[in-house]
Amino acid sequence: MNAWDIIKTIIFGGSTLVFFFILWFYNPFKHVEHYEVDKEVKEIIANPWKKVENGKTIAEEGRELFIASCSSCHSLRYDGIYLMSVQTNPKWKSVEKSVGRPVYRYGVLYKDRFFVPRDVYEAFAYDDLQGLKATLGQVPPDLSTMYLARGEGYLYQLILNPQKVLPGTTMPQLFNPQYDKQAKEKVAKIVAYLKSVNTPPPKEQIKRNVMGVLVIVYFIAMGSLLWKYRTNFLKRLGYH
Ligand code: HEC
Repeated sequence: MNAWDIIKTIIFGGSTLVFFFILWFYNPFKHVEHYEVDKEVKEIIANPWKKVENGKTIAEEGRELFIASCSSCHSLRYDGIYLMSVQTNPKWKSVEKSVGRPVYRYGVLYKDRFFVPRDVYEAFAYDDLQGLKATLGQVPPDLSTMYLARGEGYLYQLILNPQKVLPGTTMPQLFNPQYDKQAKEKVAKIVAYLKSVNTPPPKEQIKRNVMGVLVIVYFIAMGSLLWKYRTNFLKRLGYH
């Protein structure tokens, strides 16, 4: 190895280290929160898979709250929640059975929740959706990927007080801390539920991280072997 080789190695190795350091420790793509989340509810949103006293997880409680408070206007197709007026329509069950697929998410199969393609659902629910549009000015959006699109701070503040975040919106305030002592907690549970639909639980996350490390180890091992036997390979390919 001459001096030039050593300099090249340092430059190449150093820039690789700097690149991954920036990517992993000062991630420029990291989601930045512009809306505040109250301290007392941050913990609730942090771990939707945590069990609470009654044996349910926070996400399951949030799902029940969602169905009770939001499904009169919003669907959440990725988790098999459709407008209340659709879900109570006896014909809907047969649509779910014939074109729906049971929801499968992060290694868990939910046999009683069905994913129905958007066009089928919107055709079936046409009158319901148009009715909502007539009274609210627009069709309330499906919330399947809303957590990814908006982040927890925005969702928390919006659900707690829609007028503050979207002035003039027709979405009503469903949990008012003035009258309901548990309002903030309930909103946090709903946000935790929306999060649980869009992000893998800790166990799954660990699995993915291990896979990532294994892939990198594989490339390093294969790269080293290729480097070690390079003259051999080149000879067999007819070079040298
Ligand atoms: C009476 C009908 C109604 C109910 C009930 C309702 N919403 Fe909405 N929601 C709307 C409408 C209408 C919009 C569209 C708002 C707009 O863009 O002005 C909306 C928009 C939203 C948005 C998207 C905001 C954005 O930035 O695009 C979210 C998230 C949301 N609602 C969550 C909820 C949750 C969670 C609940 C239950 C706690 C709920 N909504 C209950 C009517 C409703």
